[in-house]
Amino acid sequence: MKNIVIEPKVDEISMPENLRVGLFVAEQRKRCSKTGCNAEFYGFGFGQSPFQVPPPLERSLGENAHMGQYSAAEGIEELREAISGFNKRHFSLDVDPSRIVVGHGTKGLMYTLFSIIGGSVIIPSPSWIGYAPQLRLHGKDYHVFFMKPENGYKIDPVSFSDFLSKLPDEQHLLILNNPHNPTGAVYSKEELEKIAEVCRAHNTLILADEIYALTTYRFENFTSMGRIYPEGSFVTNGLSKDRSAGGYRLGSCILPENCSEKLKKDFTKVAATVYTNVSTPTQNAAVTAYEPNEEIEEYFRITREVHRIMGTEMSQAFNEIDGIKATTPEGAFYFLADFNDLSNDLKLKGVKTSNDLARSLIDCPHHITTITGDAIMVKPDDFSARIAFVDYDGKGAFNDFRMDPPKTRSQEAVFARDKAPRMFTGTDELKKFVERIKKR
Ligand SMILES: Cc1ncc(COP(=O)(O)O)c(C=O)c1O
Repeated sequence: MKNIVIEPKVDEISMPENLRVGLFVAEQRKRCSKTGCNAEFYGFGFGQSPFQVPPPLERSLGENAHMGQYSAAEGIEELREAISGFNKRHFSLDVDPSRIVVGHGTKGLMYTLFSIIGGSVIIPSPSWIGYAPQLRLHGKDYHVFFMKPENGYKIDPVSFSDFLSKLPDEQHLLILNNPHNPTGAVYSKEELEKIAEVCRAHNTLILADEIYALTTYRFENFTSMGRIYPEGSFVTNGLSKDRSAGGYRLGSCILPENCSEKLKKDFTKVAATVYTNVSTPTQNAAVTAYEPNEEIEEYFRITREVHRIMGTEMSQAFNEIDGIKATTPEGAFYFLADFNDLSNDLKLKGVKTSNDLARSLIDCPHHITTITGDAIMVKPDDFSARIAFVDYDGKGAFNDFRMDPPKTRSQEAVFARDKAPRMFTGTDELKKFVERIKKR
């Protein structure tokens, strides 16, 4: 047998962040085993909800395990009705179930969407890594729009309008992730309105990736782009983050208001062609996760509070390290740590690029895992790192918060250190890293 020929475009995509962090750790462990180092690793790299799947959802999956038959490619009717009701209750979105499609995670839905929608895609940077590799696999054009720290890493409508006017005059699709991975930023209603206005003027659709919507710490501050720009938004959300069920692989996409019947049919056609349907037991179980359920409502309230406490305390601890500037997250479970004030010191120590930063942080003796460089789509000379604050026993933190929630800021500080000690030891280790980097 000759060497198996592989399509060159596969070489154009890099390993997704979760696998990449895992590989880094495995390589470093190997190196450590040679020197007899047993020091622990600090996990700020992998972003996965630390909490348990809500019990009603877990039970429902067991109850539906017998459902072995194929089902509707666009999602079973009962689930799409439940998702419609959920969107009404939580986001004040009035969506007919016929405008909702269900997919194998929002990642799967985005892949389908990119294969259907014409024109080029705009990815604001910094960004979650997931979009660009999918676009490269599709051979689709995309442009990167750089957001600035002075704008809170949000899209500034004036420069965005200028950016769009320089692109070829065709249809575009802007990816707007709110709350934002990796900075934890949340857009206000007014900010969304200004972005929508620019998009309307430049024939630009929006993929509103709202997978972290229900983790917004002050949920009353969250507005779905589906309310602001209903005619031009594809709103994606799912079970992975706010219900901690990433492994269930179930998400939904709301198609734009008044979109054509052809667009709806095309979604079904591509879904049926590529994966037939999302697992039928999972779809049936998910009905429980979208229908009104007081236990799940309480789960949202508690998990978002615990995320808020961890994010606030951790970002403050990072900001106390001289040379690092961290964003203060308002949603999701990440913030961005900016090491650029240390760039000369880093370069003198051989850390020349943003990609090198993740490697040097994981080196012995620090063992700190982060995501940097192309994995958050920043420029090679931008020393920024995404910090995920989920390395703790979520079940324990959830139960303790439920029994006795901290009531003051100082009680919250104690709660965070008590429930997530490794994250704070990791921050102390980071301080040592910075001190070493600065040493001449
Ligand atoms: C911003 C963002 N969008 C989408 C996803 C994908 O989520 P899903 O599990 O629904 O595919 C993730 C997962 O990490 C994410 O961080």
